[in-house]
Amino acid sequence: MTRHIFLVGFMGAGKSTVGRVVAQRLARPFVDLDERIEAVAGRTIREIFETDGEEAFRALETAALEALSGEAPSVVACGGGVVIRPENRAVLKRDGVTVYLQVTAGEAIARVGDTGTRPLLSGPGASLAATTLLAARESLYRTAADVTIDTVSRDADEVADMIIDSIGAVG
Ligand code: S3P
Repeated sequence: MTRHIFLVGFMGAGKSTVGRVVAQRLARPFVDLDERIEAVAGRTIREIFETDGEEAFRALETAALEALSGEAPSVVACGGGVVIRPENRAVLKRDGVTVYLQVTAGEAIARVGDTGTRPLLSGPGASLAATTLLAARESLYRTAADVTIDTVSRDADEVADMIIDSIGAVG
């Protein structure tokens, strides 16, 4: 059975940055789910949202997640909204260990920098959008997670160490 390491958490939590470090240390493939979606769609996430809307993006996201189940055990950086759909949460449980990388809304905005690439945060109300969205999702991240790690005040190497230490216990 495939046992992926899924990294979930809000935009700016460091899922891709940390995921690359963990994958390298464990000599596993690294998968960025957003990049997979863009490759399949032949468009950027922003273009998909603009042209077809969020639901169309979510359908592509579910398909990309499902498609990983036949692949070698990998470290997977999921998009921040992967936990919204119950069927995605079921795939996370079925196919691996899920690590929730926690971040505050303020820190998330600071780390993301140019929010233009994040359709759900673009525009002048980014801070409010981040606070509202994170509050709405917090319980979903917790439900999905086998392990939760606070990333505030920690660099990618420290977070990667903590992930590797903790997944042994649940994996
Ligand atoms: C989203 C997060 C993004 C991307 C899309 C939607 C979300 O991924 O999937 O813009 O709903 O939180 P990152 O978390 O990698 O930025």
